[in-house]
Amino acid sequence: MKFKALYIEIKDNKIKNQIKYITTNDLSDGDVIIKVEYSSINYKDMLAFKKNGGVIHKYPMIPGIDLCGEIVESNNPSYIIGQKVIATGFDIGVSHTGGYAQYARLKSSWITPLPDGLSLKDSMMVGTAGFTAALSIESLQQAGMHKNTQPKIAVTGATGGVGTMAIAILKAKGYDNIIAITSKDSQSQMLKSLGVSDIVSPKDIIKDDNKPLRSQCFHYVIDCVGGELASSLLTQIYYNGAMSVCGNASGIALNTNILPFILRGIKLIGIDSVAYPNKQRLKIWNEISNAMEFIRKVPITEVTLDTLIDKLDSIKNSNNIGRNIVSINNQ
Ligand SMILES: NC(=O)c1ccc[n+]([C@@H]2O[C@H](COP(=O)([O-])OP(=O)(O)OC[C@H]3O[C@@H](n4cnc5c(N)ncnc54)[C@H](OP(=O)(O)O)[C@@H]3O)[C@@H](O)[C@H]2O)c1
Repeated sequence: MKFKALYIEIKDNKIKNQIKYITTNDLSDGDVIIKVEYSSINYKDMLAFKKNGGVIHKYPMIPGIDLCGEIVESNNPSYIIGQKVIATGFDIGVSHTGGYAQYARLKSSWITPLPDGLSLKDSMMVGTAGFTAALSIESLQQAGMHKNTQPKIAVTGATGGVGTMAIAILKAKGYDNIIAITSKDSQSQMLKSLGVSDIVSPKDIIKDDNKPLRSQCFHYVIDCVGGELASSLLTQIYYNGAMSVCGNASGIALNTNILPFILRGIKLIGIDSVAYPNKQRLKIWNEISNAMEFIRKVPITEVTLDTLIDKLDSIKNSNNIGRNIVSINNQ
């Protein structure tokens, strides 16, 4: 049986993408085959289509770091034919053929059963971005964040995938004091409708005075931007607060000093969704499932394998808003 896949390869020292009709022989190894219903577009997927994006480990590759669908072949008795599953991260769409194809062959140790209350489409509205947002919130709660004190929580890159998902999940968990940090004035209405209490421009956070500590403004920070913004925020967190960092949308630098840590007891928490242990994933997905009423308020754009490339072009350069899902079997 032939089916559709979006390939990227290097030709004449340039990245080329192409829709091809392939068979399961062209897929990477694994013990389950999934008929893919939806995938999504994450920041990392956008980088996958860039030369020197640092994402694809071998070419040619079918990108797409997220996918969901139904098992059609299984060599693992824990997964039965017809079962609905989600897979994000690990080597998917990076060094193992990924979600931008009508079928995927994966290691069953990378998949999670679809939790109750979540549709396949819901799961890709969330995708890696939402899973990462949920991990960020979980890590801050472990560091002491609790809705009873209604802490001031800043979310950077607020209009992007991780940012909008973080706001929605925070609201679902009862947090009401959420400050969106965004450079997009045009998205105030959207952010208000997600439930943020305030909107601040990165220009008002980033200071170039090199002060090691500044006035305390936020109890907790969910950062997905990195660079100057994350560096400045570290100096503005209240005593005993914490900041989770998951992204580098504006750069990998983090200029800091020891004082926020030793004088204010600030915790800096790294978040990785890619290799997050599979055994603990269902618990996070169940929490996400409980937050769907709020997650459904996040702007979602749906594309197909044929229209995905046009969408990638429009989300480059910090232009993305909300989440983009890829309808795979609706071609
Ligand atoms: N550690 C992990 O496991 C993990 C998982 C998922 C994502 N990430 C990382 O988290 C970051 C955000 O991912 P995402 O899916 O939310 O991306 P996205 O949807 O493209 O959103 C990124 C947002 O960051 C803000 N931003 C600020 N400066 C930027 C710049 N120079 N270039 C691009 N965006 C800029 C923009 O929001 P505003 O205009 O509102 O400021 C933008 O919408 C990325 O670095 C991604 O690699 C990491």
